[in-house]
Amino acid sequence: MKLDQFPRYPLTFGPSPVHHLRRLSDHLGGAQIWAKREDVNSGLAFGGNKVRKLEYIVPDILASGADTLVSIGGYQSNHTRQVAAVAAHLGLGCRLVQEKWVPWEDPTNTQVGNILLSRMMGADSRLDPHGFDIGIRDSWKDALRDVEEAGGTPYPIPAGASEHHLGGLGFANWAFEVAEQERALGIHFDTIVVCTVTGSTHAGMIAGFAALEDLTGVKRRVLGIDASATLEKTREQVARIARHTAALIELGRDLRDDEIQVLEGWAGELYGIPVDSTMAAMALGARLEAMITDPVYEGKSLAGLIDLVTSRDIPANSTVLYAHLGGQPAINAYHRLWAE
Ligand SMILES: Cc1ncc(COP(=O)(O)O)c(C=O)c1O
Repeated sequence: MKLDQFPRYPLTFGPSPVHHLRRLSDHLGGAQIWAKREDVNSGLAFGGNKVRKLEYIVPDILASGADTLVSIGGYQSNHTRQVAAVAAHLGLGCRLVQEKWVPWEDPTNTQVGNILLSRMMGADSRLDPHGFDIGIRDSWKDALRDVEEAGGTPYPIPAGASEHHLGGLGFANWAFEVAEQERALGIHFDTIVVCTVTGSTHAGMIAGFAALEDLTGVKRRVLGIDASATLEKTREQVARIARHTAALIELGRDLRDDEIQVLEGWAGELYGIPVDSTMAAMALGARLEAMITDPVYEGKSLAGLIDLVTSRDIPANSTVLYAHLGGQPAINAYHRLWAE
């Protein structure tokens, strides 16, 4: 397996913590639920899933001789905040396109949380009125050209680092990290639940766990919970990136359809807008475990997990691992959801 041959530039503290959500498990009365915490994986501006992806992209950035990272996301993008953090850490410039991906009308949306942190770290963060799309955007291509015209050397990082050819490797490696933690803890996670939007987190896991299955013969379910509300695009993107990543790490076989599962039912109508199940899940996580989730991503995947455990779709004798991918800074822009 070729994963070890890709250079990895350390940006994380090491393996992210894994712990039992005992009170949530007791409350739901079914499967045992554990969490693996990418929200505390790094000292770089609160970390998150993109930091792990970027560990495999930084060697390419450094080899390219670029002086400016150029990326794109919504106003409250966690991804662009993590790109800004990595740029600051490496001493590079950072140009961010922040589009109006979410029709969340609150003046703080462009002022607090992620965008505030990106500005603090010195990123050139520019607002753009375009709406949500996980694909390659003209606004991002324009930003790349701007940097070049100003005499800079841009390094392009697409939304969520997903359409980057190395974007799936961070979470392919995550699968092997989980396997080591399982050995140390003496447990086995038969089901993984993860939020999916731009796709390379889930896709990387699919490739990594497929490689692990081929080594050990142990099958498990890796369930993506769609939070994009553009389900078909996300499904297509996850499948494509999973197959690409599987080929990169020389899996040596095609992925089976049952290995690529993006579930719908918890995204609501629109990306970035919470629904009742999101709010209920966020409240349960916070009140039972002091585990803070956001209304855009993790609140939706936690809602999926809660329903799957409650309905016994995830059986009561399962041990399930919830991948907490970060995202808490955005809650500041959603303050009115908890207003008195
Ligand atoms: C907190 C959080 N959770 C989940 C996701 C989804 O990950 P991906 O875009 O790799 O599907 C993101 C980023 O989009 C995120 O910031």
